[in-house]
Amino acid sequence: MKYLIVGASSGLGRELAYTFAEKKKNLVLAARDDRDLQPIKSDLSSKFGVEIKTISIDFSVIEEINEKILSDNEVLNNLSGVLFPIGFMAEKDDLILDTTNIHKIIFANYVSINYLISKFFQLFKNQEFTIVGFGSVSGLLGRNLNINYAAAKRALESFFESLAFENKKTNFLVQFYTLGYLDTNLSFGKKLHLPKGNVKKISKIVYRNKNKRFLKRFYPFYWSIVGLLLKVIPFNLILNFIKFVK
Ligand SMILES: NC(=O)c1ccc[n+]([C@@H]2O[C@H](COP(=O)([O-])OP(=O)(O)OC[C@H]3O[C@@H](n4cnc5c(N)ncnc54)[C@H](OP(=O)(O)O)[C@@H]3O)[C@@H](O)[C@H]2O)c1
Repeated sequence: MKYLIVGASSGLGRELAYTFAEKKKNLVLAARDDRDLQPIKSDLSSKFGVEIKTISIDFSVIEEINEKILSDNEVLNNLSGVLFPIGFMAEKDDLILDTTNIHKIIFANYVSINYLISKFFQLFKNQEFTIVGFGSVSGLLGRNLNINYAAAKRALESFFESLAFENKKTNFLVQFYTLGYLDTNLSFGKKLHLPKGNVKKISKIVYRNKNKRFLKRFYPFYWSIVGLLLKVIPFNLILNFIKFVK
C-alpha cells in the first residue's frame, strides 16, 4: 500500500509521513523544496524500512502535476490514497493582492487539489481509494487578512462536501478535517485565544480514519462549537459585534 502526501516537507504533512511510515506504508512525498524532503526520506527509510519517493513540485502549476504525478507510474502504481496537508499563504494577502499571487494561493490550496482528485476519480475508479483534505477555521468567516487563502479553504470544504454525494456511487473513501491552529510553523509566534492542536495527535486520528467512507470533522474539537455558532448567527450581527469590540 502506498500513499501520496502533498505538502509533506513540514508541519502536519511531515508528521503524517512519520505516522504512515511507522505503520509500514510506502509513501510518495511531495513539496516544492526537495532539500526538505530528502532528510525525511532517509530517516523514514532507515527507521521503518519503507519505500519512499520524493517529488519536487510546485503544486500551483497544473503542468507540473501532469508531468510529475499523473505521468509517472512510479507514483501511480499501487497507490491507495492521497492526503493534502498542503497550505500556501502569501505575505500580504489583503484586498489589493496582485493576481499572480491570488492565482498561486487559489491553485495551491484549491484548484490543483480539485484537479488531481478529478483525475484520480477516473484512474482509480475500480479500487478503494482514500482522499483526505484539510481545511482551516480561517475559511469559516470573511476576514481582513489571508483573504484569498481563507476563500480557497472555504471552496475546498465545499468541494469535499460535494465529493460526499459523488462517492456514494464509488469506492472512494473521503475525509475532511477543518483545522484550528496547530503547533506548526504556520501559527508560530501568533498570539491565540484558544490552545493549539497537536500535529502528532491529528496525524494519528487521520491514520485511524483513513478507511471511513465519509468523515468531516473539526480538530481541535472546540472549533466545532465556534463553527456551529458562526453558522446560526446572522453575518450582520457578527460583523457589528466585531466592530463593537474593536
Ligand atoms: N498550522 C496551522 O495553524 C493551521 C491552521 C488551520 C489549517 N491549517 C492547514 O493545515 C494543513 C497543514 O498546515 P501546516 O501548518 O502543517 O503547514 P506548513 O508547515 O506550512 O506546511 C505546508 C506544506 O505545504 C507545502 N507547500 C506549500 N506551497 C506549496 C506548493 N505551491 N507546492 C507544493 N507544496 C507546497 C510546503 O512545502 P514547500 O514550502 O517546500 O513547498 C509544506 O510541505 C494546511 O492545509 C493548512 O492550511 C493549518
